[in-house]
Amino acid sequence: MSRGNDLKEPTQEQRLILGRWPFWATLVGAVSITSGLAFGYDQGVIGGAIGFMQDEFGFGSFVEGMITSWVTIGALFGALFGGGLADRFSRKRALIFAAYLLVFGSLVQAFAPGVVVLIAGRFIIGAGVGIASVAAPMYVAESAPAALRGRYVSGYQLAITIGIFVAQFVDYGLSEEGTWRLMVGLGAATGVLLLLAAYQVPHSARWLISVGRREDAAESIRKVRGPDEVDAQLAAIEADLSDQPSSQWSDLLVGGARRALVIAVGLAIIQQITGINAVIYYSNEILAEAGFETASAQAGASLIAVGLVNVLATFIALAFVDRLGRRPLLMAGMTGMLAGLLGLTVTFLYETTPGDTHSIPGSLALISMVVFIASFAFSLGPVVWTIISEVFPNQVRAKGMSAATAVNWGAAFVLTLVFPDMLDIIGHSGTFGLLAFFTVVSMYWVWRMVPETKGKTLEEVSAMFADEAG
Ligand code: BGC
Repeated sequence: MSRGNDLKEPTQEQRLILGRWPFWATLVGAVSITSGLAFGYDQGVIGGAIGFMQDEFGFGSFVEGMITSWVTIGALFGALFGGGLADRFSRKRALIFAAYLLVFGSLVQAFAPGVVVLIAGRFIIGAGVGIASVAAPMYVAESAPAALRGRYVSGYQLAITIGIFVAQFVDYGLSEEGTWRLMVGLGAATGVLLLLAAYQVPHSARWLISVGRREDAAESIRKVRGPDEVDAQLAAIEADLSDQPSSQWSDLLVGGARRALVIAVGLAIIQQITGINAVIYYSNEILAEAGFETASAQAGASLIAVGLVNVLATFIALAFVDRLGRRPLLMAGMTGMLAGLLGLTVTFLYETTPGDTHSIPGSLALISMVVFIASFAFSLGPVVWTIISEVFPNQVRAKGMSAATAVNWGAAFVLTLVFPDMLDIIGHSGTFGLLAFFTVVSMYWVWRMVPETKGKTLEEVSAMFADEAG
Protein backbone atom coordinates (compact mmCIF):
# COMPACT_ATOMS: atom_id res chain seq x y z
CA MET A 1 0.00 0.00 0.00
CA SER A 2 1.59 3.30 -0.94
CA ARG A 3 1.56 6.09 1.57
CA GLY A 4 1.26 8.52 -1.34
CA ASN A 5 -2.26 7.38 -2.14
CA ASP A 6 -3.24 7.39 1.49
CA LEU A 7 -2.15 10.94 1.89
CA LYS A 8 -3.86 12.06 -1.27
CA GLU A 9 -7.24 10.62 -0.33
CA PRO A 10 -8.27 12.98 2.47
CA THR A 11 -7.82 15.97 0.20
CA GLN A 12 -10.23 14.41 -2.28
CA GLU A 13 -12.62 13.69 0.56
CA GLN A 14 -12.29 17.18 1.94
CA ARG A 15 -13.24 18.42 -1.48
CA LEU A 16 -16.31 16.22 -1.33
CA ILE A 17 -17.33 17.70 1.96
CA LEU A 18 -16.25 21.30 1.50
CA GLY A 19 -16.07 21.42 -2.26
CA ARG A 20 -18.08 22.98 -4.98
CA TRP A 21 -20.00 19.93 -5.98
CA PRO A 22 -21.56 18.15 -3.03
CA PHE A 23 -25.05 18.44 -4.47
CA TRP A 24 -24.14 16.65 -7.71
CA ALA A 25 -21.90 14.18 -5.95
CA THR A 26 -24.80 13.38 -3.66
CA LEU A 27 -27.05 12.79 -6.64
CA VAL A 28 -24.55 10.38 -8.18
CA GLY A 29 -24.57 8.60 -4.83
CA ALA A 30 -28.38 8.62 -4.91
CA VAL A 31 -28.37 6.76 -8.25
CA SER A 32 -26.16 4.14 -6.67
CA ILE A 33 -28.31 3.85 -3.56
CA THR A 34 -31.71 3.77 -5.26
CA SER A 35 -30.66 1.13 -7.84
CA GLY A 36 -29.21 -1.03 -5.09
CA LEU A 37 -32.36 -0.68 -3.01
CA ALA A 38 -34.49 -1.91 -5.89
CA PHE A 39 -32.08 -4.82 -6.54
CA GLY A 40 -32.14 -5.91 -2.90
CA TYR A 41 -35.84 -5.35 -2.27
CA ASP A 42 -37.07 -7.19 -5.34
CA GLN A 43 -34.71 -10.08 -4.77
CA GLY A 44 -35.47 -10.30 -1.06
CA VAL A 45 -39.21 -9.78 -0.83
CA ILE A 46 -40.34 -13.03 -2.44
CA GLY A 47 -39.13 -15.22 0.47
CA GLY A 48 -41.92 -13.98 2.74
CA ALA A 49 -44.55 -13.51 0.03
CA ILE A 50 -44.48 -16.82 -1.79
CA GLY A 51 -46.34 -18.82 0.87
CA PHE A 52 -49.29 -16.39 0.80
CA MET A 53 -49.35 -16.39 -3.00
CA GLN A 54 -49.54 -20.17 -2.81
CA ASP A 55 -52.46 -19.97 -0.37
CA GLU A 56 -54.36 -17.76 -2.81
CA PHE A 57 -53.56 -19.45 -6.12
CA GLY A 58 -52.82 -22.99 -4.94
CA PHE A 59 -49.84 -23.78 -7.21
CA GLY A 60 -47.29 -26.59 -6.93
CA SER A 61 -43.52 -26.53 -6.51
CA PHE A 62 -42.78 -26.05 -10.23
CA VAL A 63 -44.79 -22.82 -10.40
CA GLU A 64 -43.34 -21.79 -7.05
CA GLY A 65 -39.86 -22.18 -8.53
CA MET A 66 -40.86 -20.07 -11.55
CA ILE A 67 -42.34 -17.28 -9.45
CA THR A 68 -39.24 -17.22 -7.28
CA SER A 69 -36.66 -17.44 -10.04
CA TRP A 70 -38.12 -15.39 -12.85
CA VAL A 71 -36.73 -12.20 -11.40
CA THR A 72 -33.30 -13.73 -11.88
CA ILE A 73 -34.07 -14.80 -15.46
CA GLY A 74 -35.45 -11.33 -16.21
CA ALA A 75 -32.33 -9.81 -14.68
CA LEU A 76 -30.12 -11.99 -16.85
CA PHE A 77 -31.85 -10.66 -19.98
CA GLY A 78 -31.91 -7.13 -18.59
CA ALA A 79 -28.18 -7.31 -17.93
CA LEU A 80 -27.47 -8.65 -21.43
CA PHE A 81 -29.31 -5.76 -23.07
CA GLY A 82 -28.42 -3.19 -20.41
CA GLY A 83 -24.97 -2.49 -21.81
CA GLY A 84 -26.33 -1.91 -25.31
CA LEU A 85 -28.98 0.47 -23.98
CA ALA A 86 -26.37 2.32 -21.92
CA ASP A 87 -24.15 2.79 -24.98
CA ARG A 88 -26.89 3.65 -27.44
CA PHE A 89 -29.22 5.83 -25.37
CA SER A 90 -26.87 6.74 -22.47
CA ARG A 91 -26.32 5.39 -18.98
CA LYS A 92 -28.84 7.86 -17.60
CA ARG A 93 -31.66 6.91 -19.98
CA ALA A 94 -31.00 3.21 -19.42
CA LEU A 95 -31.52 3.87 -15.70
CA ILE A 96 -34.72 5.79 -16.33
CA PHE A 97 -36.05 2.95 -18.49
CA ALA A 98 -35.09 0.45 -15.77
CA ALA A 99 -36.95 2.53 -13.19
CA TYR A 100 -40.14 2.50 -15.29
CA LEU A 101 -39.88 -1.28 -15.62
CA LEU A 102 -39.49 -1.55 -11.84
CA VAL A 103 -42.62 0.49 -11.19
CA PHE A 104 -44.63 -1.25 -13.90
CA GLY A 105 -43.50 -4.77 -12.93
CA SER A 106 -44.32 -4.15 -9.25
CA LEU A 107 -47.83 -2.98 -10.10
CA VAL A 108 -48.39 -5.92 -12.46
CA GLN A 109 -47.47 -8.27 -9.61
CA ALA A 110 -49.56 -6.43 -7.03
CA PHE A 111 -52.70 -6.56 -9.17
CA ALA A 112 -52.09 -9.96 -10.79
CA PRO A 113 -55.37 -11.88 -11.22
CA GLY A 114 -53.51 -15.20 -11.66
CA VAL A 115 -50.11 -16.87 -11.83
CA VAL A 116 -49.36 -16.13 -15.48
CA VAL A 117 -49.62 -12.38 -14.95
CA LEU A 118 -47.72 -12.74 -11.69
CA ILE A 119 -44.83 -14.48 -13.45
CA ALA A 120 -44.91 -11.82 -16.19
CA GLY A 121 -44.63 -9.14 -13.49
CA ARG A 122 -41.68 -10.97 -11.94
CA PHE A 123 -39.95 -11.07 -15.31
CA ILE A 124 -40.55 -7.36 -16.00
CA ILE A 125 -39.19 -6.37 -12.63
CA GLY A 126 -36.21 -8.66 -13.16
CA ALA A 127 -35.48 -6.94 -16.47
CA GLY A 128 -35.50 -3.58 -14.65
CA VAL A 129 -33.19 -4.87 -11.94
CA GLY A 130 -30.86 -6.39 -14.56
CA ILE A 131 -30.57 -3.20 -16.62
CA ALA A 132 -29.96 -1.16 -13.48
CA SER A 133 -27.36 -3.64 -12.25
CA VAL A 134 -25.28 -2.84 -15.33
CA ALA A 135 -26.06 0.85 -15.78
CA ALA A 136 -25.86 2.02 -12.17
CA PRO A 137 -22.38 0.78 -11.20
CA MET A 138 -21.17 1.90 -14.64
CA TYR A 139 -22.62 5.39 -14.28
CA VAL A 140 -21.27 5.71 -10.76
CA ALA A 141 -17.79 4.38 -11.57
CA GLU A 142 -17.55 6.74 -14.55
CA SER A 143 -18.63 9.74 -12.50
CA ALA A 144 -16.80 9.21 -9.20
CA PRO A 145 -13.33 10.58 -8.46
CA ALA A 146 -10.70 7.81 -8.65
CA ALA A 147 -9.83 8.07 -4.95
CA LEU A 148 -13.44 7.46 -3.91
CA ARG A 149 -14.66 5.16 -6.67
CA GLY A 150 -14.55 2.00 -4.52
CA ARG A 151 -16.63 3.69 -1.87
CA TYR A 152 -19.21 4.95 -4.35
CA VAL A 153 -19.71 1.55 -5.96
CA SER A 154 -19.69 -0.13 -2.53
CA GLY A 155 -22.52 2.27 -1.65
CA TYR A 156 -24.47 0.38 -4.31
CA GLN A 157 -23.83 -2.90 -2.49
CA LEU A 158 -24.74 -1.27 0.82
CA ALA A 159 -28.08 -0.34 -0.69
CA ILE A 160 -28.58 -3.90 -1.98
CA THR A 161 -28.16 -5.15 1.58
CA ILE A 162 -30.50 -2.47 2.92
CA GLY A 163 -33.03 -3.46 0.24
CA ILE A 164 -32.85 -7.11 1.32
CA PHE A 165 -33.20 -6.07 4.97
CA VAL A 166 -36.18 -3.80 4.29
CA ALA A 167 -37.83 -6.58 2.28
CA GLN A 168 -37.34 -9.05 5.13
CA PHE A 169 -38.70 -6.47 7.53
CA VAL A 170 -41.77 -5.76 5.39
CA ASP A 171 -42.38 -9.50 4.98
CA TYR A 172 -42.08 -9.96 8.71
CA GLY A 173 -44.35 -6.99 9.48
CA LEU A 174 -47.05 -8.02 7.01
CA SER A 175 -46.90 -11.75 7.74
CA GLU A 176 -49.78 -11.63 10.23
CA GLU A 177 -52.23 -10.32 7.63
CA GLY A 178 -50.52 -12.13 4.75
CA THR A 179 -50.93 -9.16 2.41
CA TRP A 180 -48.52 -10.36 -0.25
CA ARG A 181 -49.84 -7.86 -2.82
CA LEU A 182 -48.64 -5.03 -0.65
CA MET A 183 -45.27 -6.75 -0.09
CA VAL A 184 -44.52 -6.94 -3.82
CA GLY A 185 -46.34 -3.70 -4.65
CA LEU A 186 -44.02 -1.71 -2.41
CA GLY A 187 -41.25 -2.53 -4.90
CA ALA A 188 -42.78 0.27 -6.99
CA ALA A 189 -41.50 2.75 -4.41
CA THR A 190 -37.89 1.74 -5.10
CA GLY A 191 -38.55 2.33 -8.80
CA VAL A 192 -39.98 5.78 -8.14
CA LEU A 193 -36.93 6.70 -6.05
CA LEU A 194 -34.58 5.58 -8.82
CA LEU A 195 -36.62 7.56 -11.32
CA LEU A 196 -36.30 10.72 -9.24
CA ALA A 197 -32.53 10.31 -8.88
CA ALA A 198 -31.86 9.32 -12.50
CA TYR A 199 -33.86 12.23 -13.95
CA GLN A 200 -31.75 14.73 -12.01
CA VAL A 201 -28.20 13.60 -12.76
CA PRO A 202 -26.20 14.80 -15.77
CA HIS A 203 -25.08 12.29 -18.41
CA SER A 204 -21.78 10.51 -17.81
CA ALA A 205 -18.95 12.54 -19.38
CA ARG A 206 -17.38 9.39 -20.77
CA TRP A 207 -20.59 8.55 -22.62
CA LEU A 208 -21.00 12.14 -23.88
CA ILE A 209 -17.52 12.08 -25.37
CA SER A 210 -18.16 8.72 -26.98
CA VAL A 211 -21.08 10.28 -28.90
CA GLY A 212 -19.15 13.43 -29.78
CA ARG A 213 -20.78 15.86 -27.31
CA ARG A 214 -17.58 17.43 -25.98
CA GLU A 215 -19.12 20.63 -24.63
CA ASP A 216 -21.75 18.75 -22.69
CA ALA A 217 -19.06 16.42 -21.38
CA ALA A 218 -17.09 19.40 -20.05
CA GLU A 219 -20.25 20.66 -18.35
CA SER A 220 -20.93 17.26 -16.80
CA ILE A 221 -17.39 17.04 -15.39
CA ARG A 222 -17.65 20.60 -14.10
CA LYS A 223 -20.84 19.77 -12.24
CA VAL A 224 -19.93 16.41 -10.80
CA ARG A 225 -16.18 16.69 -10.33
CA GLY A 226 -15.51 20.43 -10.12
CA PRO A 227 -14.04 22.98 -12.59
CA ASP A 228 -10.38 22.15 -11.86
CA GLU A 229 -10.76 18.68 -13.27
CA VAL A 230 -12.38 19.50 -16.61
CA ASP A 231 -9.28 19.77 -18.82
CA ALA A 232 -7.41 16.80 -17.41
CA GLN A 233 -10.48 14.59 -17.49
CA LEU A 234 -11.44 15.53 -21.03
CA ALA A 235 -7.91 14.89 -22.27
CA ALA A 236 -7.65 11.51 -20.51
CA ILE A 237 -11.01 10.26 -21.78
CA GLU A 238 -10.40 11.50 -25.31
CA ALA A 239 -6.95 9.93 -25.46
CA ASP A 240 -8.40 6.63 -24.30
CA LEU A 241 -11.33 6.71 -26.74
CA SER A 242 -9.27 7.84 -29.74
CA ASP A 243 -7.33 4.55 -29.64
CA GLN A 244 -10.44 2.75 -30.74
CA PRO A 245 -13.50 4.95 -31.17
CA SER A 246 -16.28 2.40 -31.73
CA SER A 247 -16.59 -1.12 -30.46
CA GLN A 248 -17.90 -4.57 -31.29
CA TRP A 249 -18.57 -7.47 -28.93
CA SER A 250 -15.53 -9.17 -30.44
CA ASP A 251 -13.34 -6.32 -29.13
CA LEU A 252 -13.82 -7.87 -25.72
CA LEU A 253 -11.69 -10.79 -26.85
CA VAL A 254 -8.47 -8.93 -27.57
CA GLY A 255 -5.67 -7.32 -25.56
CA GLY A 256 -6.37 -5.58 -22.28
CA ALA A 257 -10.14 -5.96 -22.73
CA ARG A 258 -9.79 -9.73 -22.84
CA ARG A 259 -7.87 -9.72 -19.59
CA ALA A 260 -10.56 -7.46 -18.08
CA LEU A 261 -13.27 -9.85 -19.30
CA VAL A 262 -11.56 -12.87 -17.72
CA ILE A 263 -11.27 -11.04 -14.39
CA ALA A 264 -14.80 -9.60 -14.40
CA VAL A 265 -16.49 -12.85 -15.46
CA GLY A 266 -14.33 -14.88 -13.08
CA LEU A 267 -15.30 -12.65 -10.15
CA ALA A 268 -18.96 -12.65 -11.19
CA ILE A 269 -18.97 -16.46 -11.01
CA ILE A 270 -16.99 -16.58 -7.77
CA GLN A 271 -19.43 -14.19 -6.09
CA GLN A 272 -22.17 -16.77 -6.65
CA ILE A 273 -20.53 -20.21 -6.50
CA THR A 274 -19.22 -19.54 -3.02
CA GLY A 275 -22.85 -19.76 -1.95
CA ILE A 276 -24.15 -16.39 -0.72
CA ASN A 277 -27.66 -16.73 -2.12
CA ALA A 278 -27.94 -20.37 -1.10
CA VAL A 279 -27.11 -19.39 2.49
CA ILE A 280 -29.50 -16.42 2.42
CA TYR A 281 -32.27 -18.45 0.82
CA TYR A 282 -31.89 -21.43 3.14
CA SER A 283 -31.09 -19.42 6.26
CA ASN A 284 -34.24 -20.70 7.95
CA GLU A 285 -33.00 -24.26 7.69
CA ILE A 286 -29.65 -23.26 9.16
CA LEU A 287 -31.48 -21.43 11.94
CA ALA A 288 -33.62 -24.51 12.57
CA GLU A 289 -30.37 -26.43 13.03
CA ALA A 290 -29.32 -23.70 15.47
CA GLY A 291 -32.44 -24.49 17.50
CA PHE A 292 -34.91 -21.83 16.32
CA GLU A 293 -37.99 -23.95 16.16
CA THR A 294 -40.95 -21.95 14.87
CA ALA A 295 -41.22 -20.12 11.55
CA SER A 296 -41.60 -16.79 13.30
CA ALA A 297 -38.56 -17.42 15.55
CA GLN A 298 -36.59 -18.22 12.40
CA ALA A 299 -37.84 -15.13 10.58
CA GLY A 300 -36.92 -12.92 13.54
CA ALA A 301 -33.46 -14.45 13.90
CA SER A 302 -32.84 -14.24 10.16
CA LEU A 303 -33.72 -10.55 10.16
CA ILE A 304 -30.80 -9.97 12.51
CA ALA A 305 -28.33 -12.75 11.63
CA VAL A 306 -28.68 -12.33 7.87
CA GLY A 307 -30.31 -8.97 7.15
CA LEU A 308 -28.73 -6.68 9.69
CA VAL A 309 -25.30 -8.33 9.72
CA ASN A 310 -25.21 -8.05 5.92
CA VAL A 311 -25.92 -4.30 6.11
CA LEU A 312 -23.55 -3.51 8.96
CA ALA A 313 -20.54 -5.44 7.66
CA THR A 314 -20.77 -3.64 4.32
CA PHE A 315 -19.63 -0.48 6.14
CA ILE A 316 -16.24 -2.17 6.63
CA ALA A 317 -15.87 -2.17 2.86
CA LEU A 318 -16.92 1.46 2.61
CA ALA A 319 -14.26 2.38 5.13
CA PHE A 320 -11.41 0.36 3.63
CA VAL A 321 -11.96 -0.32 -0.07
CA ASP A 322 -10.19 2.87 -1.20
CA ARG A 323 -7.64 2.85 1.62
CA LEU A 324 -6.45 -0.74 1.89
CA GLY A 325 -7.52 -1.64 -1.63
CA ARG A 326 -9.61 -4.32 -3.31
CA ARG A 327 -7.27 -7.30 -2.96
CA PRO A 328 -6.77 -7.26 0.82
CA LEU A 329 -10.54 -7.04 1.36
CA LEU A 330 -11.17 -9.91 -1.07
CA MET A 331 -8.57 -12.18 0.53
CA ALA A 332 -9.59 -11.39 4.12
CA GLY A 333 -13.31 -11.76 3.37
CA MET A 334 -12.94 -15.03 1.52
CA THR A 335 -10.90 -16.41 4.41
CA GLY A 336 -13.79 -15.54 6.72
CA MET A 337 -16.31 -17.08 4.31
CA LEU A 338 -14.23 -20.26 4.24
CA ALA A 339 -14.21 -20.40 8.05
CA GLY A 340 -18.01 -19.95 8.08
CA LEU A 341 -18.55 -22.68 5.49
CA LEU A 342 -16.26 -25.11 7.32
CA GLY A 343 -18.18 -24.35 10.52
CA LEU A 344 -21.45 -25.20 8.76
CA THR A 345 -19.90 -28.38 7.32
CA VAL A 346 -19.00 -29.53 10.82
CA THR A 347 -22.28 -28.43 12.42
CA PHE A 348 -24.43 -30.48 10.12
CA LEU A 349 -22.54 -33.63 11.07
CA TYR A 350 -24.29 -33.41 14.43
CA GLU A 351 -27.91 -33.84 15.43
CA THR A 352 -29.29 -30.81 17.24
CA THR A 353 -32.23 -30.60 19.60
CA PRO A 354 -35.18 -28.57 18.29
CA GLY A 355 -35.85 -25.59 20.53
CA ASP A 356 -32.41 -25.68 22.17
CA THR A 357 -30.61 -22.54 20.99
CA HIS A 358 -27.73 -23.10 23.41
CA SER A 359 -26.33 -26.43 22.23
CA ILE A 360 -22.73 -26.34 21.00
CA PRO A 361 -23.49 -27.41 17.41
CA GLY A 362 -26.49 -25.05 17.39
CA SER A 363 -24.36 -22.08 18.44
CA LEU A 364 -21.70 -23.08 15.92
CA ALA A 365 -24.34 -23.06 13.16
CA LEU A 366 -25.44 -19.56 14.09
CA ILE A 367 -21.91 -18.19 14.50
CA SER A 368 -20.75 -19.79 11.25
CA MET A 369 -23.63 -18.25 9.33
CA VAL A 370 -22.98 -14.81 10.78
CA VAL A 371 -19.25 -15.06 10.01
CA PHE A 372 -20.02 -16.16 6.46
CA ILE A 373 -22.52 -13.35 5.79
CA ALA A 374 -20.35 -10.65 7.39
CA SER A 375 -17.26 -11.77 5.48
CA PHE A 376 -19.13 -11.76 2.16
CA ALA A 377 -20.56 -8.35 2.96
CA PHE A 378 -17.18 -6.60 3.16
CA SER A 379 -15.51 -8.53 0.34
CA LEU A 380 -17.15 -10.39 -2.56
CA GLY A 381 -20.36 -8.32 -2.23
CA PRO A 382 -19.07 -4.80 -2.81
CA VAL A 383 -15.64 -5.50 -4.28
CA VAL A 384 -16.88 -7.64 -7.16
CA TRP A 385 -19.25 -4.90 -8.35
CA THR A 386 -16.48 -2.35 -7.93
CA ILE A 387 -13.96 -4.30 -9.98
CA ILE A 388 -16.48 -5.23 -12.70
CA SER A 389 -17.21 -1.53 -13.11
CA GLU A 390 -13.59 -0.41 -13.34
CA VAL A 391 -11.56 -2.93 -15.34
CA PHE A 392 -12.97 -2.44 -18.84
CA PRO A 393 -11.60 0.20 -21.21
CA ASN A 394 -14.04 3.04 -21.98
CA GLN A 395 -14.91 1.74 -25.47
CA VAL A 396 -16.11 -1.68 -24.31
CA ARG A 397 -17.12 -1.00 -20.71
CA ALA A 398 -20.85 -1.31 -21.36
CA LYS A 399 -20.52 -4.57 -23.28
CA GLY A 400 -18.06 -6.03 -20.81
CA MET A 401 -20.21 -5.13 -17.83
CA SER A 402 -23.26 -6.59 -19.57
CA ALA A 403 -21.47 -9.87 -20.12
CA ALA A 404 -20.09 -10.13 -16.58
CA THR A 405 -23.35 -9.07 -14.93
CA ALA A 406 -25.41 -11.51 -17.02
CA VAL A 407 -23.02 -14.29 -16.02
CA ASN A 408 -23.48 -13.25 -12.37
CA TRP A 409 -27.28 -13.55 -12.67
CA GLY A 410 -26.96 -16.82 -14.59
CA ALA A 411 -24.72 -18.26 -11.88
CA ALA A 412 -27.15 -17.07 -9.17
CA PHE A 413 -29.99 -18.80 -11.03
CA VAL A 414 -28.15 -22.09 -11.48
CA LEU A 415 -26.96 -22.19 -7.89
CA THR A 416 -30.37 -21.56 -6.33
CA LEU A 417 -31.85 -24.13 -8.72
CA VAL A 418 -29.39 -26.93 -7.94
CA PHE A 419 -28.96 -26.19 -4.24
CA PRO A 420 -32.00 -28.21 -3.06
CA ASP A 421 -30.81 -31.18 -5.16
CA MET A 422 -27.31 -30.84 -3.74
CA LEU A 423 -28.79 -30.99 -0.24
CA ASP A 424 -30.73 -34.14 -1.19
CA ILE A 425 -27.84 -35.91 -2.87
CA ILE A 426 -24.75 -35.04 -0.81
CA GLY A 427 -26.48 -33.78 2.34
CA HIS A 428 -26.07 -30.48 4.21
CA SER A 429 -22.57 -31.18 5.38
CA GLY A 430 -21.41 -32.29 1.95
CA THR A 431 -22.99 -29.24 0.32
CA PHE A 432 -21.30 -26.72 2.61
CA GLY A 433 -18.06 -28.70 2.26
CA LEU A 434 -18.34 -28.37 -1.51
CA LEU A 435 -18.95 -24.61 -1.23
CA ALA A 436 -15.87 -24.42 1.01
CA PHE A 437 -13.88 -26.21 -1.68
CA PHE A 438 -15.12 -23.71 -4.30
CA THR A 439 -14.03 -20.92 -1.95
CA VAL A 440 -10.48 -22.29 -1.65
CA VAL A 441 -10.14 -22.59 -5.42
CA SER A 442 -11.58 -19.06 -5.81
CA MET A 443 -9.08 -17.66 -3.30
CA TYR A 444 -6.20 -19.11 -5.27
CA TRP A 445 -7.60 -17.69 -8.50
CA VAL A 446 -8.15 -14.22 -7.04
CA TRP A 447 -4.67 -14.23 -5.53
CA ARG A 448 -3.10 -15.10 -8.91
CA MET A 449 -5.31 -13.10 -11.28
CA VAL A 450 -6.88 -9.99 -9.76
CA PRO A 451 -4.70 -6.86 -9.80
CA GLU A 452 -5.05 -3.92 -7.41
CA THR A 453 -7.02 -1.05 -8.94
CA LYS A 454 -7.38 1.28 -5.96
CA GLY A 455 -6.71 4.97 -6.56
CA LYS A 456 -6.16 4.64 -10.33
CA THR A 457 -8.31 6.49 -12.84
CA LEU A 458 -10.33 4.27 -15.18
CA GLU A 459 -7.94 5.22 -17.97
CA GLU A 460 -4.94 4.21 -15.84
CA VAL A 461 -6.58 0.87 -15.11
CA SER A 462 -7.14 0.15 -18.81
CA ALA A 463 -3.59 1.24 -19.64
CA MET A 464 -2.28 -1.17 -16.98
CA PHE A 465 -4.28 -4.03 -18.50
CA ALA A 466 -3.23 -3.17 -22.03
CA ASP A 467 0.44 -3.17 -20.92
CA GLU A 468 0.08 -6.50 -19.20
CA ALA A 469 -1.60 -7.99 -22.26
CA GLY A 470 1.47 -6.85 -24.24
C1 BGC B 1 -25.03 -10.24 -4.97
C2 BGC B 1 -26.37 -10.86 -4.73
C3 BGC B 1 -26.55 -11.14 -3.25
C4 BGC B 1 -26.31 -9.88 -2.45
C5 BGC B 1 -26.33 -10.16 -0.98
C6 BGC B 1 -24.90 -9.00 -4.15
O1 BGC B 1 -23.67 -8.42 -4.38
O2 BGC B 1 -24.86 -9.95 -6.35
O3 BGC B 1 -26.48 -12.04 -5.50
O4 BGC B 1 -27.83 -11.60 -2.99
O5 BGC B 1 -25.07 -9.31 -2.78
O6 BGC B 1 -26.07 -9.04 -0.22
